[in-house]
Amino acid sequence: MKNIDVCLSPELLHQYDLNNKIVVVVDVLRATSCMVSGFANGVKEIVPVSTLEECKILQNEGYLAAAERNGSRAEGFDMGNSPFEYLEERVRGEKIAVTTTNGTMAINKSLEAKEILIGAFLNLGAITAYLKNKDEDIIVLCAGWKGKFNLEDSLFAGALCHLLKNDFEYACDAPLAAEAMYITAKKDIMTYMKDSSHAKRLAKLNVVKDIEFCVQESIYNVIPYLSGKSLITKS
Ligand code: MLT
Repeated sequence: MKNIDVCLSPELLHQYDLNNKIVVVVDVLRATSCMVSGFANGVKEIVPVSTLEECKILQNEGYLAAAERNGSRAEGFDMGNSPFEYLEERVRGEKIAVTTTNGTMAINKSLEAKEILIGAFLNLGAITAYLKNKDEDIIVLCAGWKGKFNLEDSLFAGALCHLLKNDFEYACDAPLAAEAMYITAKKDIMTYMKDSSHAKRLAKLNVVKDIEFCVQESIYNVIPYLSGKSLITKS
């Protein structure tokens, strides 16, 4: 039977064989939520890069450039990392270069995979429906925070495992633990997440609405995936 696994931090990814597997990268707060929102709003292409320097080079080549570090917009760039910026008129039809503290690094660490998909609560339904019919094993890669476990990404992983458990076998205990967390939290994810380290970090930066927005389930029917160096979308 095909199986699903959860990698709770990019620091653990060396423990996983990505060959011929589908990796779903998740960074609920906020990188992958931004990417899903952008494509739902008509963004043409997103190039995820790991460094500010790479992002600056693409900005000079005419890309809109979004850069975040430690929750704040980096100096000299066009956008930060709020989903509301990705819902603005000005990004429609645009190519965007993006670098964030964790999310873009996690994508670039997954390049050995057969397929790399972008997951968030916002497109949970679309991702679930797509994966149900796939034959490959799946790894959900949680972006975490600077190599550490974080709550929100593991909650998403638990939700996806829970929705796919009739079609995929759990490969080890991480899916079990993530699902248990999701079952506990799902009646009110916002309340469950409000004490998470990154929610508190963002709140200190007066970023609250973004969190409420990013925990909405299945409001967008888009599945961004990596094609070469760029994220484009299937729908
Ligand atoms: C990240 O990549 O670490 C996050 O998306 C950071 C953020 O947007 O707050």
